[in-house]
Amino acid sequence: MARELKGAVVLITGASAGIGRAAAVAFAREGARLLLAARRRDRLEEVAATARALGGEAIVAETDVADRRQVHAAVAKAVSAFGRLDILINNAGIGYHGMLEDMPIEEIETLWAVNVMGTIYATQAAIPLMRTQGGGHIINIASVAGKRGGAGSSVYCATKFAMVGMSEALRVELRGSGIEVSVICPVSTATEFFDASSARSKRHHPPMGPIQTAEKVARAIVRCAKKPRPEVIVFPPARILVLINALSPRLADLILLGFRRTMFREQGTR
Ligand SMILES: NC(=O)c1ccc[n+]([C@@H]2O[C@H](COP(=O)([O-])OP(=O)(O)OC[C@H]3O[C@@H](n4cnc5c(N)ncnc54)[C@H](OP(=O)(O)O)[C@@H]3O)[C@@H](O)[C@H]2O)c1
Repeated sequence: MARELKGAVVLITGASAGIGRAAAVAFAREGARLLLAARRRDRLEEVAATARALGGEAIVAETDVADRRQVHAAVAKAVSAFGRLDILINNAGIGYHGMLEDMPIEEIETLWAVNVMGTIYATQAAIPLMRTQGGGHIINIASVAGKRGGAGSSVYCATKFAMVGMSEALRVELRGSGIEVSVICPVSTATEFFDASSARSKRHHPPMGPIQTAEKVARAIVRCAKKPRPEVIVFPPARILVLINALSPRLADLILLGFRRTMFREQGTR
């Protein structure tokens, strides 16, 4: 039977834009109570107002997920406002486009801090609460880039592989606790992600492969919250690449090289 989301307390990191914003709207439609976290307060307030207009309850917490204390404060704010935490969505994330050999170490550290440490901080804060409550659901937004690495995104892929591996391990660690763990793997999604990544990388970061909407990813997240699944690949044909990679990594290399050549043919960049 599908879980009831009405009244569920949901904390979403990276809720000020893109997939996080779309997820906030989708959970609000279900009548959830939301704690929306990100750095841009004005954007969070707009999302919270939209969520309230749709029937949800929403409060915001200005949070940099790379700062452990801020993340713990956001989790504490959800509990003090709503009395519990049912679903944690670790969604805040950033990209960087460039070859590993050229990538400044500060950018590597920032990517790791936001994508991986941010997820760890929130998860560590949530687990004791969820254990006390007798259950909960941790949903990590990774990527198909966490299932098969692609050139030009080595560090980003490393962070997303880390999220996938952590989700798998946690699922086993938390067995019997009532806490579910899911990992969602979108393909390229039409959000601010590529503009933000291009700005950080100081070079154009185009999406690769099929492009889906943030709303489609948000629907997949809500479905997973209602019926928890270990892993959701939002664009099912992407499973074929994952399968090919498991059977023949060299063949997967050639397929991705083909994609990449097509993508950069007119740009003359690597
Ligand atoms: N777009 C894609 O193609 C794609 C594909 C697969 C997976 N994903 C993953 O999906 C997630 C959401 O990405 P998106 O496409 O929605 O990107 P987006 O539109 O750029 O949104 C990113 C969100 O993360 C927040 N964020 C960034 N740095 C943060 C920090 N230090 N602390 C707190 N929040 C921070 C941003 O808010 P503030 O700037 O206000 O802090 C924003 O709300 C990411 O984890 C990404 O890796 C995206």
